[in-house]
Amino acid sequence: MSLLRFRCSILLLVAVALTGQQKEYKAKEEKIPGDPVKQPIAYSHKVHVAQGMKCMNCHTIPGEGFLAAYPKETMCMGCHSTIKKESPEIQKLAAFAGRKEAVPWARVYRVPDIVWFNHSVHVKQAKAECTVCHGDVGQREVLFQEKSTSMQSCMACHAAQGAPNGCDVCHASQ
Ligand code: HEC
Ligand code: HEC
Ligand code: HEC
Ligand code: HEC
Ligand code: HEC
Repeated sequence: MSLLRFRCSILLLVAVALTGQQKEYKAKEEKIPGDPVKQPIAYSHKVHVAQGMKCMNCHTIPGEGFLAAYPKETMCMGCHSTIKKESPEIQKLAAFAGRKEAVPWARVYRVPDIVWFNHSVHVKQAKAECTVCHGDVGQREVLFQEKSTSMQSCMACHAAQGAPNGCDVCHASQ
């Protein structure tokens, strides 16, 4: 099927479904690439991935698989109780760890609560690489939004890979 026909069928699907819906779908505005997201500690993916660390060493996908978790501060301190401990950024990290407090990392990707998104289904079942949805994170000093999380982008990949696209697939409560 051509790309154009994919696009048309998606638009048609949305249009048909919307005539029966109370709430009108309005695509969210996205700026891609987004601005660098300011973080409470100057953490660099590039530096750590260059050390040979894998995405899943830090971002485990526990339980039912919705979340790609953030690493625990004690895990960071496994290295940083000795590596660069004189650095002001590491001292900030050590202070959070000492207080047993999670670092309040600012979010880069976020879908609204009405959307059902599960990491395990995509990473473990569909074998989608992190880069498909998050860009080349391992090369970044600072993260910013690189890929769309709009409804259209989800549905386009579902159409291309033969995954279901009914409204209730992603909006279970509707
Ligand atoms: C496997 C060991 C290891 C782990 C685990 C680790 N780091 Fe690092 N980190 C390093 C190394 C090596 C460097 C580079 C040090 C250098 O520049 O010489 C570094 C550098 C840094 C720096 C820059 C420090 C500076 O002033 O140059 C920060 C901030 C940092 N890490 C934060 C973290 C955070 C937050 C975590 C947990 C999410 C973490 N690190 C986990 C090894 C580690
Ligand atoms: C040493 C631990 C560590 C490793 C390894 C690591 N990350 Fe991270 N990741 C973090 C920390 C800490 C943050 C929060 C700070 C930030 O956004 O830069 C984060 C944030 C992210 C975010 C933003 C989440 C959001 O939406 O707010 C994504 C996406 C991400 N990582 C993907 C990856 C991918 C893909 C890899 C492998 C290429 C990877 N990470 C490797 C520690 C790690
Ligand atoms: C099919 C697209 C897709 C793939 C593949 C994917 N992610 Fe995500 N990721 C998302 C979306 C969408 C969000 C926002 C989820 C939300 O708001 O609930 C997100 C959020 C995150 C977050 C923030 C915490 C969270 O779960 O909400 C981290 C960290 C993250 N992803 C890391 C990764 C890593 C590491 C990989 C590869 C192992 C990966 N992602 C693969 C789409 C994806
Ligand atoms: C890389 C292509 C790709 C992208 C991008 C993608 N998906 Fe998927 N998704 C799939 C595939 C393939 C499946 C089918 C997995 C299976 O059943 O093995 C799937 C399945 C699902 C399911 C069904 C889960 C279940 O329990 O059966 C939901 C819900 C879902 N995706 C939501 C989303 C949302 C929301 C987004 C956008 C934020 C998104 N997907 C982006 C490829 C993708
Ligand atoms: C593959 C996943 C997926 C499917 C299938 C899907 N949506 Fe969505 N939908 C999303 C995502 C992701 C968002 C949030 C991002 C956005 O607004 O673009 C969203 C947002 C919405 C919103 C806006 C909600 C708000 O509060 O802003 C409405 C309404 C909506 N979808 C209706 C539908 C209808 C009707 C269908 C069936 C034709 C459908 N969706 C199918 C993923 C999906």
